[in-house]
Amino acid sequence: MVDVNQLVDVAGGVQSKRVFWDQEVYEQELDRVFGRCWLFLTHESLIPNAGDFVTAYMGEDKVLVVRQRDGSIKAFLNSCTHRGNQVCHADSGNAKAFTCSYHGWSFGMDGALAALPLEQSAYYGKFDKAEWGLRPVAKVDSYRGFVFGCFDPQAPSLPDYLGEMGWYLDTWMDGTGGAELVGPPMKSILRCNWKVPSENFIGDGYHVGWTHAAAIKVLGGPLSGLAGNAEIPFDDAGLQVTSRHGHGFGVIWDGVGLIHNDPAYRIYAAEKQPEVAAKLGDWRAKLYMGHWNAGIFPNCSYLYGTNTFKIWNPRGPNEIEVWTWTLVEKAMSPELKREVVKQAIHSFGTAGTLESDDGENMETCTWSNRGPQTRRGRMNSQMGQVNDTEHPELPGIIGKNFIGETSYRGFYRFWAELMEAKDWAAVRANDATWKEPLIKGAAKAQGRAA
Ligand code: FES
Ligand SMILES: [Fe+2]
Repeated sequence: MVDVNQLVDVAGGVQSKRVFWDQEVYEQELDRVFGRCWLFLTHESLIPNAGDFVTAYMGEDKVLVVRQRDGSIKAFLNSCTHRGNQVCHADSGNAKAFTCSYHGWSFGMDGALAALPLEQSAYYGKFDKAEWGLRPVAKVDSYRGFVFGCFDPQAPSLPDYLGEMGWYLDTWMDGTGGAELVGPPMKSILRCNWKVPSENFIGDGYHVGWTHAAAIKVLGGPLSGLAGNAEIPFDDAGLQVTSRHGHGFGVIWDGVGLIHNDPAYRIYAAEKQPEVAAKLGDWRAKLYMGHWNAGIFPNCSYLYGTNTFKIWNPRGPNEIEVWTWTLVEKAMSPELKREVVKQAIHSFGTAGTLESDDGENMETCTWSNRGPQTRRGRMNSQMGQVNDTEHPELPGIIGKNFIGETSYRGFYRFWAELMEAKDWAAVRANDATWKEPLIKGAAKAQGRAA
């Protein structure tokens, strides 16, 4: 068991470099993070009909996600209960049954073992098929059409798991009648630890003007002013948010669609804003016009306003398989959806301009820790800590600007909590006090600044 206190100092805003390179840490993550959290699987609109399925990952486990005849969605381990072969090799499709390519066991869309070759002659009619269905994922649920699965039956419900983040997500998941994903996902391999892109997307407004200096100049538009940190707007330019279960985001006010040369998206959002205001109030109407870099803990990231939506599937401590969809609102016209998809592919698709900039840094942040001396070092996420606070109207902990590391600190606070807790009951016991180390960290930072 790893000593989590050696890895994360929550109030100090410091992490060990071991979090990016350590087999023992990784094995514990698979169990305690990926084995316990709600993990994104797909969007309901991608499997609308009975028998529609996609294959997905939950951590390193392969799963099969299937729309049932009654309209519900079930998920199973994609592993044959006979000798463990992968049951379904397709990425997606429609099927009445899933038949294993090894010896031909056949499972229904509900996961039950329906038939096996030579059942009478080789098993003498004595085989108990009811016992050998595919192993179901304990919980599957959908939040506003976004489907998640969880291996841990003790986990809180999906709305409880999203918690305060659900309030924020509703801005674009519900404000104008819902959002959906355009698939199938693009897929690529990055040689980095899964937490490097997760922390980057959840909270790194700092790197935009630097890492992406050339790309945002080429892209043009209002964002290009950030290149080289030349015109970084500070006061009242945005916020950072972190929440109970490590979800969070940074928002740049009025940043929606800024990456698009074509103003169609910004015009659409401005037209829709009054609808969001009427339904969800002023704060979320303001958030609706922002650009968000965001994460749903542990490994689901998205940029609202650029509209890329990603899963960082772990492949060992130093490699990930990246899956990328485009996020669109249902109310958008087909032309606008096409434009948004095009821009999302240009920027954050597998060969996107901004994706390529980030990839190099993410790989190097990981592989530099191959050296054991390097790995003993610490990493700093204290930016903006001095201003972390509660807000009378906004849930969670709020950082004063979009360039800050509030959501980093919240991400690792929950990561450490989960890595240490023996079960969800132990996590629940901290519900009333989860903000304390972050607030304490802010007080400490104020002391340092004084
Ligand atoms: S391993 Fe699947 S039928 Fe034998
Ligand atoms: Fe980036």
